[in-house]
Amino acid sequence: MSERWAVFGGVYSNHVALAALLEDAARRGAGRLVCLGDIGAFGPYPDLSCELLRDSGALVIQGNYDDSVGRGLPDCQCGYTDPRDNHFARLSYAYTLARTSETHRAWMRTLPPMQRLEVNGRHVLMVHGSPRRQNEFLWESATPDGFLVHLLDAWRAGVLLCTHTGLHWGRRLPGGRCVINVGAIGRPANDGRTCVWYAMVDFSGPETRWEFIPLDYDWPRLVHGMRADGLPEEFVQTIETGWWTTCLEILPIRERMAGRY
Ligand SMILES: [Fe+2]
Repeated sequence: MSERWAVFGGVYSNHVALAALLEDAARRGAGRLVCLGDIGAFGPYPDLSCELLRDSGALVIQGNYDDSVGRGLPDCQCGYTDPRDNHFARLSYAYTLARTSETHRAWMRTLPPMQRLEVNGRHVLMVHGSPRRQNEFLWESATPDGFLVHLLDAWRAGVLLCTHTGLHWGRRLPGGRCVINVGAIGRPANDGRTCVWYAMVDFSGPETRWEFIPLDYDWPRLVHGMRADGLPEEFVQTIETGWWTTCLEILPIRERMAGRY
C-alpha cells in the first residue's frame, strides 16, 4: 500500500466535491483515504455523501456532527455562541437530521472518535477536533506550538491529523513531529475562491510531508440541489463566492480578518 494518504474532513453534505475528491485522490495514487468526520451540514441530500463515503473504503473518524446525527441529539455540538450563528446551525442540523436515513445514522454511531495507526515508524493519530475533545477548534492563529507538543506528548503521537475548523493549516514541530489540519471539502476556505481543500500526506520518506490540494468541482450542481431543497441562500452564497456568511463569530481575529464578513 502506498504511504501517501488523501486526508479530508468537513464533507458537510457536499457530495459533488466528495465525488471529485475520490477521483482526484485516485489519480494522485493515494494508498489510503481518511475522512476525519462531519459528513453532514450546510449541503443537500446527506444520504448521498454517506453512500459515497461508505462505498469508497475510506477510514472514517466520527465528527461532532456525526455523533449528533447518529444519536439524534438536540443540536450539532458545533459550539456556537452567537444568536445568528445558532439560528443557521439549527436550520442546518434540523434539515440534516431529518434527511439522514436510519441506516446511515446507525453507521455513524459505530464510527470511532479517534484512530491510531503506525506508518513507517510514525505514530499517526486521527481525530476530528483535537484528541482531548471532538469539537475543540485548533485554529492556526490561536494554537501555540507548546500546546500542540503537549497534545502529541499526552497522546504519544508523532503526527496529528485533524479538521473541524474548516480552514487548513499545518505545522512542523521539533523532533520531526507535525500537526496537520486538513480543512474541509464541504465549503470553501473563506478566501474568495470556490475550490475546497484536502491534504495529501506522504509518510514514505524520512520525514512526514504534506501538500494541501485545492479541489475544483462542479459547484453549480451543488447549488442547484441546495436551492431545490430549500436550503438558506446564505449557505448557497458561500459555495458561489468562497466567502463564509455564517459561523463567523467563532473565528479568531486573524482568521476573521482574512474573510469578507
Ligand atoms: Fe466539526
